[in-house]
Parts: sequence; C-alpha cells; structure tokens
Amino acid sequence: MKIAVEGCMHGDLDNVYATLLHLQQVEKTKIDLLICCGDFQAVRNEKDLESLNVPAKFKSMNTFWKYYSGEKVAPFPTIFIGGNHEASNYLWELYYGGWAAPDIYFLGFAGVVKFGNIRIGGLSGIYKDRHYHLGHFERPPYNNNEIRSVYHVREYDVHKLMQIEEPVDIFISHDWPVGITDHGNWRNLVRSKPFFEQEIQSRTLGSKPAAELLEKLKPPYWFSAHLHCKFAALVEHEDGGQVTKFLALDKCLPKRKFLQIIEVESEPGPYEIQYDEEWLAITRRFNSVFPLTAKKAYFRGIPPLEMEDCRRWVKSKMQSRGSKPFEFVRTVPCYKSSQSHDAKGSFSGHIRNPQTEALLQFLELPYLLDKGEPGPSQASIFRGPVDYNSEDGGPFEDVNNIQLPEDDDDDEQVPD
Ligand SMILES: [Fe+2]
Repeated sequence: MKIAVEGCMHGDLDNVYATLLHLQQVEKTKIDLLICCGDFQAVRNEKDLESLNVPAKFKSMNTFWKYYSGEKVAPFPTIFIGGNHEASNYLWELYYGGWAAPDIYFLGFAGVVKFGNIRIGGLSGIYKDRHYHLGHFERPPYNNNEIRSVYHVREYDVHKLMQIEEPVDIFISHDWPVGITDHGNWRNLVRSKPFFEQEIQSRTLGSKPAAELLEKLKPPYWFSAHLHCKFAALVEHEDGGQVTKFLALDKCLPKRKFLQIIEVESEPGPYEIQYDEEWLAITRRFNSVFPLTAKKAYFRGIPPLEMEDCRRWVKSKMQSRGSKPFEFVRTVPCYKSSQSHDAKGSFSGHIRNPQTEALLQFLELPYLLDKGEPGPSQASIFRGPVDYNSEDGGPFEDVNNIQLPEDDDDDEQVPD
C-alpha cells in the first residue's frame, strides 16, 4: 500500500490534494491513503475561527470547509491528528475520533484505527508540562487561556495509548518525541535551525509522553510535524531488535519538504478506515475515569486494568455490527451557506455530534463531553463499566480551584 505522509496541513487541503494527484499522474502510481500529522485546521465556518489559536493574520477560512460542505470530495482517504492550531471546538465534538468530513477521518485526541490490515495510532496536541495532569476541562466557547490549553496533551489519553499490547504499524504525533534527534543527523538539523540546539542539549525539544509511547509501542513508522522542517531518524530499540523509522515533515509551502510517499507492506486492498477492536475495548474500559475538570488526575503507576472481559464484549458487539465507523454528519452550517450567519451558525457552545453519540451508545457509555465544569462534586460523573476507584479515590487528586497559569503563548515560537 502506498501512503502519503504530510506535515502540517494548515487548512490547505486543495493544494495538498492537487500535489498528490499530480504526483500520482507523473509517477504513474496509486496513492491509497493520506496521513496528516496535525495543524489540520478543520474550520467549517467563521464561528469555528473563534476556537482556532493562531495570530490574527492567519485567521482565514482556507479550504477545509469545501470538503465539509460537500462542494469538494477528498480524492484520497485521509487520516489526521490534531496539533496546536485547530478548530478545537470541532475536534472536541469528535473526541473519540470520527469523520470530520466525508473520507476525512480525525483519529481523536488519542486513537487507533485500521486501514486494511495496517494499524494506525495517533496522539493529538502538543505536550506542555503544566497541563499534562489536568483533566479535559476546556469547553467552547473558550476563554483566552482555554483556547491555548485545550490542545495540550493530557496524561489520561497517553495512559490509554500505553495500554495497547498489539503491534501498531504507524504512529503519529504532532510534536516530536523528545530525544528523537539523538537518532538522526541533528548537527545537520541545527545547521538549518540553529535555535534548536539549546533545546536539543537541554532535552526539551519535543514531547516526553510521545517518547514514552515510542518506547512502549515501537512502531515500524512514526511521523510528526510541528517544527516545520524535515528530519529523519532511525531508532533501534534496545530489546527485541525492533526498529522505528521516524520522519518529520514541513508544512505545505512551495519548495518545502511537506510530503513523503512510503510503501507499506500490506494485504491487497480495497482498503477502508475501520474501528480497531483493541482500541474500542480500551476506550470502553477507561471512559469511567475520563477526567473532565481542571483537577489533577494521575494515572502513572496504576496497575493495568484487566481487559479480557471488555475485549470479549467489544468483539461480540463488533461481530454483529461490523467495524465501519458511524457515518459522517454535519453539525453546523457551512461557510457561505445562507444559514451560516443565523442563530444556528452563531452558536458557540458545545454541540453533541451524532457520530460520537452513536459510538458511545454502541459501547454503552454515557455522554460526558458536555460535563465537568470545574468545581467540587464531580465524582458523580465517573460512572460506567469500570470501578477504577480504589480506597484512596483512584487516580484523582482532590484539588479544587487549581490556579491555571497564564499561558505565555510559547506554542507560537516556531519560526518558518
Ligand atoms: Fe504545530
């Protein structure tokens, strides 16, 4: 199977698809899938721009909305994760993953899907130490701090990914696993990006949890973006002789290295994006401890949950329903449509996406994405098939009204 991998999309779907179609023609080849490593900017209408954290000069509709409205159709199945420039209100609707537009699949804040027999996992967002242990407390409309913290990686999502036991073929993260530069030609990298040197030396270039996941999952391929440059590395894992080929790519601009085609050994097609059984079992098992407030919730060191029963349950459900994701549903008016300025088009709160509701219903889980306003007495929402709470209250630290630091906007310090 031929997979095109792209760095940051920045809403430029038209150009990326046109480049791929051209490539397909001149190389006389067929591309089966596009993977995008974040900063996708799935902006559906002007209202969504309010949830997108970018400098004012970059606040523009770009081209995702055409694929959302149906005016255009993605020429390749596309899978993406979130980065730090996203219509975060929309991605939150699809927290567990789902179709952002027809044939364009968001992996979720964390997620795994299958494409043919290839397993693709991903972690959305970027790592920031100060928000890592908090719950997902941000709800649209976002205030000035929330719009900058909503895309910061949370331990809960990483913890779920750490439960994966079956091999993952491809993993994507927006920021690079910290330490990845040790495994490639970092001197060359520093020559073109001298300001990386200090961060490489102090081991702060990249994401700690991504590095933990790389060590645990050891996928044959790992792709990232965010730093707007191309960088390749080869990680030889200490035990078992497994190797990860790492590749980071640039953003989509003329003469920039933003695309790479890789050939992955697979069973013959046709290929479709499908739910992954192990991931759905993990999703079901951990939904009851989904932290939804600004309280700290620690997961590290908690013994692994017993998964067997849950796995069996999910398997039998999937046998009767199949593993096709629930269908795409439009939840807001599209840009340029007559509705986009009426009451529905200017709603800025959380919208329950029918895809998410259908998935939760299928997994027999409660809908929690509109719950969890910061404050005490949140314990009541943590219910579901798992009783994770040990005598000391489980992974939750009972800290009310944590003072969240003002964000210093350092997510934006990625020069071209
Ligand atoms: Fe980014």
